[in-house]
Amino acid sequence: MEEKWWQRSVVYQIYPRSFQDSDGDGIGDIPGITSRLEYIRDLGADAIWLSPIYKSPNDDNGYDISDYQDIMAEFGTMADFDAMLEKAHSLGLKIVMDLVVNHSSDEHKWFVESRSSKDNPYRDYYIWREGKNGGAPNNWGSCFGGSAWQYDEKTDMYYLHLFSKKQPDLNWANPVVRDEVFSMMDWWLQKGIDGFRMDVISLISKPDGFPDGELGPNGYASFHLCANGPHEHEYLKEMNRRVLSKYDLLTVGETAAVTLEEAKSYANLDGSELSMVFQFEHMDADFHPVLGRYAEQHKNLPKLKEILSRWQNGLEGIAWNSLYWDNHDQPRVVSRYGSEKPEYRELSAKMLATCLHMMQGTPYVFQGEELGMTNYPWTSIDQINDIESLGNYRAFHEKGLMTEAEGIEMMRHRSRDNARTPMQWDDGPQAGFTTGKPWLPVNPNHTLINAAEQVKRPDSVFHYYRKLIALRKELDVMVYGHYELLEPEHPALFVYTRTLGDESLLVVCNFSEDEQTYEIPVEYRGADILIANYPDAAPAGTLRPWEAVVYHRK
Ligand code: GLC
Repeated sequence: MEEKWWQRSVVYQIYPRSFQDSDGDGIGDIPGITSRLEYIRDLGADAIWLSPIYKSPNDDNGYDISDYQDIMAEFGTMADFDAMLEKAHSLGLKIVMDLVVNHSSDEHKWFVESRSSKDNPYRDYYIWREGKNGGAPNNWGSCFGGSAWQYDEKTDMYYLHLFSKKQPDLNWANPVVRDEVFSMMDWWLQKGIDGFRMDVISLISKPDGFPDGELGPNGYASFHLCANGPHEHEYLKEMNRRVLSKYDLLTVGETAAVTLEEAKSYANLDGSELSMVFQFEHMDADFHPVLGRYAEQHKNLPKLKEILSRWQNGLEGIAWNSLYWDNHDQPRVVSRYGSEKPEYRELSAKMLATCLHMMQGTPYVFQGEELGMTNYPWTSIDQINDIESLGNYRAFHEKGLMTEAEGIEMMRHRSRDNARTPMQWDDGPQAGFTTGKPWLPVNPNHTLINAAEQVKRPDSVFHYYRKLIALRKELDVMVYGHYELLEPEHPALFVYTRTLGDESLLVVCNFSEDEQTYEIPVEYRGADILIANYPDAAPAGTLRPWEAVVYHRK
């Protein structure tokens, strides 16, 4: 297989609003990022995925773009961006930009024109339909709660928005829209950026005829019925032919509702579409059977293992996996699959990192994950900013499916704001994030969990991630080795091997705070320990709470 730079890389995700404020307005910005690039270089990451920094009215914190070729005023200027890009490159860091083109902001000039009249040249840039039986054109629901259709008085028609009503869906069936998007992408690539993370790219081709779907618990059909639509791969192949193939890029599709079979097209190693995709199956493994994401967790390790292993084996040699626990849309993994208890927090963070980084694929580290940051102890719905968790809470609350107390509990487990509280740089006021009032509260545990302390301490979570990232650079078996799951039914242990020729790794992870008995396979007895999260080797036949050990046989 021809080696690609992104197969041996680790990507660090920055959510700019929460990373580093440089001017005291309580909102992170581009000069703030520039001032912290050495930290990311020292961690050993190869590339940065920047969540959107484009001009936006911030209905969904930058995922609603009103000008694709301008910078959000709160984040700085284009000159600030250019300076950041130049410094990143000088430090050997690549920059992967978020590309949000399933929808724009309703304040984008295209939409302002589009909604102004039925015969405006921009009308077909978006998806307009007549109402039906005095209501919306069909029963599709928005991901953020309520109908996916917004009535617009001006022309007495509805427009589609799979997300908020300020995020109208672009009409990819219109070739002029594709031309606009592709030339905008090319403009950024000409500036020298190194790739794109493509926001909900699996939703761009809507099903023919816009049929009603099966109703979910919120009274609407899930937006998932727009996933992997009839022209999806045709559009991506066109994008690849006209834009991506002219550069050496990392491209990753955020592909809601993608199946393993679909991923073989999206992320095929033949390079005809994208480098890799973010699949969601393992993120859904702890969902509530009825309320889905918006409820307490239902952890099930055998299920999690089955999903991740199926993706490991299913894509091998055909397509490429991305590996992630955390991002700006997910609760923090330590709170989700690890332990917040002071005696176990770091052990569990390291165990989770080991489990993920030893797999085949490109690992993503979300800001603060490398410190073992945790969810926020929300005490009131009023503290929440996240449009998704608020919208869904309100929808469930109005239907009598969720009390306010349950809503707060749900926010603690699930709100995207758990990922978005400011980066914890030090133990000082506002964790060194800002000198002003932060847009979301700083987690009070920043006095314990912060970068300054961990960078100084050799056995910290930060240095553990650094080691894992460095190992990926050295070991082909970590990058390309064949994956095999052992102990599929074990309720607390995640055990697998990676094999490349005569070299192999045995990865043993205890996903619990209980001691577990486990006899390692004979062929690994006496093998070198590549990395482990306890300073001393475990007594034979036992794994301690949250223990992770990787054995290396050559
Ligand atoms: C993606 C983004 C998320 C955003 C949504 C709509 O899922 O990751 O943050 O709200 O798309 O753009």
